[in-house]
Amino acid sequence: MSTHVQEIKDRLDVAAVVSSYIKLDKSGANYKARCPFHNEKTPSFYVSPERGSFYCFGCGAKGDIFTFVEKFEGLDFMGALKVLAERAGVVLDRVVKTDNRKELLYEILEKATEYFEQKIEEEKHAKAYALGRGLSESTLSSFRVGYAPNDWRQLRSYLASKGYRDADVEAVGLIKKTDKPGGDPYYDVFRGRIMFPISDTSGRVVAFTGRIVVDDGKSPKYLNSPETALYSKSKTLYGLDKAKSDIRKRDYSILVEGQMDLVMSHQAGFTNTVAASGTAFTEDRGADSAFGLLTRLSDNIVVAFDSDAAGQKAVKRIVPAIALGMNVKIVDIKGGKDPADIIKANPKDWTKALESKKDFIEYLADAIKDSNASPAAVAKTVKEDLFPYVAAIPDDTPRFQAIKKIADRLALSEDALWKDLQEYVKKNRPGGAQSSFGKAEGPPSRRLDRLESIERKALGILYSNRYMKGGADRKRELQGVVGEARMKEFETLSSDDLAELTLEAEVTYGDSDIEKEYKMLLLTLEEEYLNKRLEDATMALHKAEKGKEDVEGIMKSIQAFTTRKQEIRRLITRL
Ligand code: UTP
Ligand code: MN
Repeated sequence: MSTHVQEIKDRLDVAAVVSSYIKLDKSGANYKARCPFHNEKTPSFYVSPERGSFYCFGCGAKGDIFTFVEKFEGLDFMGALKVLAERAGVVLDRVVKTDNRKELLYEILEKATEYFEQKIEEEKHAKAYALGRGLSESTLSSFRVGYAPNDWRQLRSYLASKGYRDADVEAVGLIKKTDKPGGDPYYDVFRGRIMFPISDTSGRVVAFTGRIVVDDGKSPKYLNSPETALYSKSKTLYGLDKAKSDIRKRDYSILVEGQMDLVMSHQAGFTNTVAASGTAFTEDRGADSAFGLLTRLSDNIVVAFDSDAAGQKAVKRIVPAIALGMNVKIVDIKGGKDPADIIKANPKDWTKALESKKDFIEYLADAIKDSNASPAAVAKTVKEDLFPYVAAIPDDTPRFQAIKKIADRLALSEDALWKDLQEYVKKNRPGGAQSSFGKAEGPPSRRLDRLESIERKALGILYSNRYMKGGADRKRELQGVVGEARMKEFETLSSDDLAELTLEAEVTYGDSDIEKEYKMLLLTLEEEYLNKRLEDATMALHKAEKGKEDVEGIMKSIQAFTTRKQEIRRLITRL
């Protein structure tokens, strides 16, 4: 196996592998990106082609192409080896079939997919239905759309005949067990439905959605697989496996509601589209939450939900995207249609609809304006319907801008709105959203975490015996960035802490050019401090404008901070 590993490493460039998952920017001899393994706004994730490795100053993630694929796709080593071997064109002759249970479950889903694909060819009415909805033959095959026969046990018997055990088929959500005594307890979950396989980001089927063909008036129109060991509803977006590279290329994603919307979108060339159906949009802002997955590819998202009441309610689901700092635009779909209807009638109309997108604040504020309510009612609606979105915005500057937009559009007082917002935030501090409001009493912000983690790395280098050279100079440089007071705090670190820090640094940096690494750390650290100072200054500016005092001074420091930040960017690129 080790020769395979080496062969694959020789053939594949780490930057090429990583950039097939996330957007990389050139940074000197290296590449940088926002880390896919933790949430951050400024990139601290670096890829070094020379070393064949990646590392993140923010969260400490590091490794080679195998580690990356394992982590990113949630695979074990053998799984990553298979993915990369295929990519490298290396034939794994000595791979024995793993007895890994996950692999078995994938295999069952794959067999079921093939079965459904075969059935849609055999059952003409099902095929006719799919074509009648506007799906082309080639879309059916690229999305592997199939049909689950209207029978209680066909799939189950088929899989059993192939040697798969009921318990395993049940574990992927394809069959269920009745409590009724006597007879065969297992039955197929999906019956008489057009089957849309849902894949993970690497394209392996993990679940299904089934759309009923002949409505019986009691079964739900759409049915989704339950959560399983392979399928987590909060971490899966339908269509992402097919859309990911175009989201990166076009630098935005389109989020639609349903399976039909998604498939029709791709068929019409909107190949950067993903669907929300089946996805649980949790408050969780984790890097592998649904929006976390998208924001790795692009910060820009266009949301196009149905214009019906349900669709409007669904708009609430964008809150975690806002909290991640994404640039959210909303398409106003008029006339009770959905993207699938529009595209089926005329794809050009969908292009037009997308062009009418509005910034989410403008969209929501305009909806309130269009309601023609009294000024008092408007103010109340703003608090109830708009503040949840505004409060989710993670940075002060865009939050100011949002308040300004609302004030302008709805003819409300900016100051009053700002005050109300602060009240609102205090009262409704959302559990998950770590807004930078009320830092003192709230949970520590992510930026502080990141800042601290960079400090830890710098200290690790500073105190490691291995990197002793130039200690005094390095200490001075660090103090120059963090200040004397912070430096004093470092001196109170216990010997256990120090041992941990130095070990971490030595593992992370090994024999790399430590001077260069240290410089990079200090610049990144300074940048973080500047971000914090800029945030404070922006806040001060807002307050000062009201009091008409010292605006100039604050503007000057904002200018200076910004200039230095640009300088740092240049210095980092040159390292
Ligand atoms: P719609 O009823 O608008 O579905 O529900 P649709 O996409 O227009 O369906 P068609 O065109 O009649 O086939 C919107 C989405 O809500 C989910 C599905 O994902 C659907 O696409 N849904 C709807 C369910 O999960 N279960 C249901 O029973 C109905
Ligand atoms: Mn619909």
